[in-house]
Amino acid sequence: CGIVGYIGSEDAKEILLRGLEKLEYRGYDSAGIAVANEDGVHVFKEKGRIAALRNVVDEAVDGTVGIGHTRWATHGVPSRTNAHPHQSETARFTLVHNGVIENYEQLKAEYLKDVDLQSDTDTEIIVQLVDRLVKDGQTVEAAFSHTLSLLKGSYAIALLDKQNSDLVYVGKNKSPLLIGVGDGVNVIASDAMAMLQVTNQFVEIMDKEIVLVTRDNITIKTLDGTVMTRSPYTAELDASDIEKGTYPHFMLKEIDEQPFVIRNIIQKYQNENGTVRLDEDIREAMKSSDRIYIIAAGTSYHAGLVGKQLIEKIAERPVEVHIASEFLYNMPLLSENPLFIFISQSGETADLRGVLVDVKEKGYKALTITNVPGSTLSREADFTLHTYAGPEIAVASTKAYTAQMAVLTLLAVDTANAKGIELDFDPIQELGIVASAMEALCDQKEKLEQIARDYLAVTRNCFFIGRAADYFVCLEGALKLKEISYIQAEGFAGGELKHGTIALIEEGTPVVAIATQEHVNLSIRGNVKEVAARGANPCIISMEGLAHDGDAFVIPKVHEHLTSLATVIPLQLISYYAALHRDCDVDKPRNLAKSVTVE
Ligand code: G6P
Repeated sequence: CGIVGYIGSEDAKEILLRGLEKLEYRGYDSAGIAVANEDGVHVFKEKGRIAALRNVVDEAVDGTVGIGHTRWATHGVPSRTNAHPHQSETARFTLVHNGVIENYEQLKAEYLKDVDLQSDTDTEIIVQLVDRLVKDGQTVEAAFSHTLSLLKGSYAIALLDKQNSDLVYVGKNKSPLLIGVGDGVNVIASDAMAMLQVTNQFVEIMDKEIVLVTRDNITIKTLDGTVMTRSPYTAELDASDIEKGTYPHFMLKEIDEQPFVIRNIIQKYQNENGTVRLDEDIREAMKSSDRIYIIAAGTSYHAGLVGKQLIEKIAERPVEVHIASEFLYNMPLLSENPLFIFISQSGETADLRGVLVDVKEKGYKALTITNVPGSTLSREADFTLHTYAGPEIAVASTKAYTAQMAVLTLLAVDTANAKGIELDFDPIQELGIVASAMEALCDQKEKLEQIARDYLAVTRNCFFIGRAADYFVCLEGALKLKEISYIQAEGFAGGELKHGTIALIEEGTPVVAIATQEHVNLSIRGNVKEVAARGANPCIISMEGLAHDGDAFVIPKVHEHLTSLATVIPLQLISYYAALHRDCDVDKPRNLAKSVTVE
């Protein structure tokens, strides 16, 4: 979910709606705004996208103060009733919330037995509780702080009081939240992107702080009332980066940006003499640790699998890769001197943050590799490596994935240099070759569109098989396809398919086989024969120098360590065209959110 707020002199409606459109990547199953004026607080909400919300907002209602929310459902189905803002029984208080309140059942039983709750959400109890404490005689500020101190879980909250519409109450714990400051105007946002339209000056809010936001002032306090002072920083985002220009979809734009992103990374991380150089502290942490633990989710986890190979092969350092949401349950025996690497496009994924908090408590060092340097995971880790991919808006991650792998390559190289390991390749030059290969691949859209049409136009399922490094890119290819086209897709190690899953192969089942690794080229082709003999429709994607007659697509040659960066491009484009042909919403696939800030 994402929240926004505005208090200034202009009509709040349009600013809130535009802000929410920029936050739709955080969820888009329902949305709402509340606008305050002299007649009271007016709430508009609707199931579906911001576009649907626009249709129900009454143009005639003016107000220069307001809050808004776009939702990714956790408690309660997506519906108009469960959409935020939520109001207290008396309608005095109106509230939006991003996060999950874990003890809401208990709070309901303890404080709100006699209240007739309107929604199935955990959020509603917050606003009812504030109302209850105010009725019991507390000031609004005291009731707000008191309520927040009772909550267990995560929240970014904005609250309006009908009786004082010159003030917005804000609170935060674990969920991201920024206050944007301007001249006679202040704004609230889960992500700076949403309010760049108003200001590029933002103040970070820390966990368990509240903020009293008026037009001319922001007062930050801890829950026990200590006033905090903090200066704003400049959000280095260019508003044009978050528009899709002439592209029909953000995903296509972001796929095309990949060669530029790789060149950008090379430029950011090289010395004047053309060698790789990272931050001294990161180099030292990598050098002195005896084992690396990579923690990630989704596409970033797939980048982590490639990262493990890179770090082990290039820097000769053992690496484990773990799914963030499982790590704490199945914690491995840690080495003596571990270093944790958190890979996250958004830097906000709650599953990762849970692990980060835990390992920091245990006193271990953490490095975050992220596309958003001011993000929670970046702030809370000891070190950050920026992936410099520019804002990624499409829910399906593309350029962030290749950027993560490029940065992991440079991290491996820098560590190898620090350890005095002689490299037999020039990483800067090889990444440059990758960027050119990516360009050549992006130029072959027609061919890839045809492959999508031939293999995926009508199928129910699809398998991706590969061996060695190709296996990891198969996992990512399958994830991309299922995310945006809803075709059931699975990535398999070429040798493993026969141990069960081959039972699913039927006449015409598409099997995409990746063959970019010389040492397994013949064995993966053997696996293709096995599935073809059972009726599958194989689509072989190979690499120059290893191609056989009849391969569906050939990738330009790149260094063996870096094949995943090139191979994923045709897989991204095939998924994109498959989704288009199936009339799916490419940029905002059903049920998903780009940044999942709940565990
Ligand atoms: C969500 C997105 C995925 C993404 C994952 C991890 O589930 O839909 O595309 O890979 O989160 O996100 P992160 O921002 O931590 O890389």
